[in-house]
Amino acid sequence: MCCKSILSPRLMAWKFFTIAFVCIVTVSCGDVSEWHQQQDETRDGLFLPGESTKGVEILQQAASQGNTDAESDLTLARLLGIGLTQDIEWAAKSSLALLDSGGARAHTTQGLLLSHNLTGKELTDEERRTQALSHYLVAAINKDPLAQIIVARHYINKGDCEAALQYLRKAAVSVVPSTSEEVRANIPVRYVWPEDDTMSLINQLPTLDELQFMEYLAQNGDVDAALRAAIVLVTPIPGLKYDPELAVLYLRQAVEANSTSAKVMLAAVHLHKSLQPDKNDTLELLQEALAQGDVTAHTYLGLLYLEGFQDVPRNLRKAKFHLEEGVKIGSVEAFYLLGKLYNTPEGPGNPIDAVHLWEVAAAFGHVPSAFKVAESYNKKLQVAALTTVTPDGTSALINKLCEDTLPLYRLVALSGKWRNLHHLAFDDYTQGHTSSALMKYLLLSDLGYNAAHINAGRILDSERSTLYDDDEAATNEIVKIWKRAADAGIALGYLRLGDLFYYGDGVSKNLTAAAEHYSSAAQLGNAHGMFSAAQAVEWGEGTAQNLEKARELYEVILDAHSEALVPVTLALYRMEVLIALSRFFNTNLYFHPLLQHPGQYLYTFVPPWDISIMIGLSVFITVMVKYRVRR
Ligand SMILES: *[C@@H]1O[C@H](CO)[C@@H](O)[C@H](O)[C@H]1NC(C)=O
Ligand SMILES: *[C@@H]1O[C@H](CO)[C@@H](O)[C@H](O)[C@H]1NC(C)=O
Repeated sequence: MCCKSILSPRLMAWKFFTIAFVCIVTVSCGDVSEWHQQQDETRDGLFLPGESTKGVEILQQAASQGNTDAESDLTLARLLGIGLTQDIEWAAKSSLALLDSGGARAHTTQGLLLSHNLTGKELTDEERRTQALSHYLVAAINKDPLAQIIVARHYINKGDCEAALQYLRKAAVSVVPSTSEEVRANIPVRYVWPEDDTMSLINQLPTLDELQFMEYLAQNGDVDAALRAAIVLVTPIPGLKYDPELAVLYLRQAVEANSTSAKVMLAAVHLHKSLQPDKNDTLELLQEALAQGDVTAHTYLGLLYLEGFQDVPRNLRKAKFHLEEGVKIGSVEAFYLLGKLYNTPEGPGNPIDAVHLWEVAAAFGHVPSAFKVAESYNKKLQVAALTTVTPDGTSALINKLCEDTLPLYRLVALSGKWRNLHHLAFDDYTQGHTSSALMKYLLLSDLGYNAAHINAGRILDSERSTLYDDDEAATNEIVKIWKRAADAGIALGYLRLGDLFYYGDGVSKNLTAAAEHYSSAAQLGNAHGMFSAAQAVEWGEGTAQNLEKARELYEVILDAHSEALVPVTLALYRMEVLIALSRFFNTNLYFHPLLQHPGQYLYTFVPPWDISIMIGLSVFITVMVKYRVRR
């Protein structure tokens, strides 16, 4: 038997992989028609950490039997370095050869190469963009959700909401069947620059060492540690252990020590069907927890009665009671489930209320709710489109409905399995495969993940030559990525653009543009951006000089960002000294040619005058303070 050994208990954990297993069997044992049915799942498998190598093996077997769809998928895997070593030239050649006969992903590969100027062909910017788009369109029509999302972004940028909606909906529809009911849009993502991690959920999670210590405590009977270790172990997070079976052991241990949270969590793991229950006691666990005062049990009791579980039959009346209690304490899942209950034909509620409940859950990033709301809006949109007859076929109502629907489909589409590329890319980066990491982040950035703009930008900033031999090509890419970040409202994007324009790095030097970008970063509350904006005002660089305003701006930073105390204090001292000296010499020292562009000195080795003054001043202050203390 060719493929028996592939099934390990771990695979059971992911529902998806049981399907992929069917696929392994059917493909490698020769049934290619089955392969077509399972293709989507195999494709998704490429993006799952730890399983991509297997996914590639399936594709290679199918490809060796002449399956051009699988061959096309392989070109993308090669380009991104998923499950095999990255080989951009091979991917370029192979996808080119497959364009006429092959599958959607050959076009996606070409689109990606073209849009990031990696084909090595001499084309104008316009030509590259047009060709990339036409490849993405072919791939999107041939059902590649990645291409559908990218094409949708193109239409959003062009302001064509309805076209964007059509493609995003297709991508969302392909995501939903494999989405579990508790899934949220926000997954913890790691940043390649540790200081960017302050923006991430990762910051609130333990490190691997801390997890090991928790497990050690748990094994020695610490209930709280057992519970906390279990929470981490049931969540797939890059760089941390993922082991739901072990989590269940810890939960059981905490349950035996009478922890109510553990009771609820263990019941939740059972009810979400991520693992076979180890005991037939889900209802008791929840009832005990509730009796002990843990109201979070309501939501899961609601779920249990909504669908019936183990030997407890479905009971919509009880489900309604518990879910309404769950909604009262603000449980996002309770909003979703109560909506489901209201939407049940024989149920006790009104389907219109269901949509309102889902709207709330969707606002908290609950993916299945977002899909249901989007579908309901979309239906209204279709009705409005049929009944509205205006000369140009558009109306304010339709536009409004479309704009409300778009972000919901987007949320669903971006929760597809491909979001795990973040994890794969981060692993690549930590293992030194920088160019594979960058290629993945570039794709993720094209798809519209904010974290990917930041990571791609950081890698390009620090290692321009990763993918590009040509310096101009690299800097164009850097500017493009940071612009994207800025457009997405990320302060760092504005800050980096400000720097690029300030130093004339890859773009022509433009102090006005730099000052505007710094000021945008400052408005988003970024300390570094505020500092640069204050400097621009102090020195009149790209904006009118105004020392009073500069002082105010510096002082705002002091109030908001305690970590900026030292540089801001020094900058304020420098300003006072310069003002005093200017008065003394009856001139404006700020306009002395020697003193222009203070920021530029940061990148030279000679200690610039202002830093020397700062150092001198701080030594002086320290001595003064010491002297006073002694007295
Ligand atoms: C479990 O805890 C509850 C209150 O938190 C208490 O009433 C009960 O007696 C405990 N049961 C055991 C077996 O310790
Ligand atoms: C694209 O790359 C080529 C080198 O491969 C380079 O000469 C050209 O300037 C790049 N174009 C853009 C717009 O970056």
